[in-house]
Amino acid sequence: MQSWRASLLRFDPDGQALFDEDGLLVVGPNAEGRQVVLAAGAYAALAAQYADVPCTHLPGRILAPGFVDLHIHYPQTDVIGSPAEGLLPWLEHYTFPHEAQFADEAHAASVARFFCDELLRNGVTTSLTFSTSHVPSVDALFAEAQRRHMRLITGKVLQDRHSPDGVRDDTEQSLIDTEALIRQWHGVDRLGYAITPRFAPSCTEAQLRGAGALAAQYPDVWVQSHVAENLDEVAWARALFPDSRSYLAIYADHGLMRPRAVYAHCIHFDDDDRRLMRDTRTAAAVSPTSNLFLGSGFFDFAAADRVGFLPPGRPKAETAPSGGSGPREAGERGGMLYGLASDVGGGTSFSPFVTMRAAYFTGRAATTGFAAKPGVSLAPEKLWWLHTAGAARALDLEGVIGNLQPGCEADFVVLNPAATPLLARRTSQADSLAELLFALIVLGDDRVIEQTIISQAK
Ligand code: GUN
Ligand code: ZN
Repeated sequence: MQSWRASLLRFDPDGQALFDEDGLLVVGPNAEGRQVVLAAGAYAALAAQYADVPCTHLPGRILAPGFVDLHIHYPQTDVIGSPAEGLLPWLEHYTFPHEAQFADEAHAASVARFFCDELLRNGVTTSLTFSTSHVPSVDALFAEAQRRHMRLITGKVLQDRHSPDGVRDDTEQSLIDTEALIRQWHGVDRLGYAITPRFAPSCTEAQLRGAGALAAQYPDVWVQSHVAENLDEVAWARALFPDSRSYLAIYADHGLMRPRAVYAHCIHFDDDDRRLMRDTRTAAAVSPTSNLFLGSGFFDFAAADRVGFLPPGRPKAETAPSGGSGPREAGERGGMLYGLASDVGGGTSFSPFVTMRAAYFTGRAATTGFAAKPGVSLAPEKLWWLHTAGAARALDLEGVIGNLQPGCEADFVVLNPAATPLLARRTSQADSLAELLFALIVLGDDRVIEQTIISQAK
């Protein structure tokens, strides 16, 4: 058993932030020998009970849950900052040529090593991650994450059409490979598999159908893809699948919407799409730096919450407020699930602070142009929740990761709120938790992450 004494941030089951200025976090093995949180709360309340446990005292520091990144591409680490007119030319000119290199296991292993270092340096302890269409790219990342005891989810990309030589796969073989990878890696240590159709335009009907069959056969495996990111992409998907009601509905029509399915972007949606997300318990990975960089558009937080928060039995008053009202409504029972993601390399940073900041800015700007809607002012506690406990809920891993409540796996960060002169000046004047978290979100980056601690096994 081990304990840490510092300020302590965690979340209650409603997503409300709990903060102990002088807190204690006690960590020890569970029945399987995995390090989990045994107790968390005010130092004054817990100190006597855990007086014999060795304690690391970190005055001036904050203990917080490790961040959860709901959507990132490890093979695009070297694609960050490649400009293009929009998504489709960016894929063609930068992304596919880079990804073609991941047929080479040594290259994949080297990027996987850098990628995991960079996640941890930024305080990200779990990510739902795209590999490439090459089996060695998946093996390389799983092996690297396993070596570090990380809870990480990835899968082989499925793309059997509209993709160049070097990344395009074969329909039948891609499904055989997917099932073999599920059997090899899913549930081994802390690793999880995600069935990964790249996006509907890059997959034949047969490949999507096969992916859906595997999603039904292996219900505790994740599903990840992209949807409704860019208007040209939406038009293309609609033309390729004219029988589906919408781009999103293509995935539903192929058995790819269910709990543990996570779709990146979800920008160009109507309310029927949002209800489909809600009713199937499918989650959105909101990727604001990518959406800004590729000029894709803005996720509509207000609309997501409006259709999203109808606890069973309550009348259909689709008027729930967004933004300032705190995290309670996000992901509430019966709600449309969403959380935050970097989407590196369309996204521009591994840092959750940069992502939370961009989510705030894009929320302010709304979705239909600067003048048409007032936008929302997302509360800092909600932004933080969406990148920790809320993202864990979106992954169906609530109570496992993303929080520091008893029973959660002990993945956490030590934050230095005085990491830069300006942060030190601003955070020392914060009069409330909201002010403290806002200052960190607006001014913070990797320098704030002093340590990242990953739950170890016996
Ligand atoms: N849609 C299909 N593939 C991709 C990708 O690699 N990045 C993003 N942002 N969108 C996609
Ligand atoms: Zn992506």
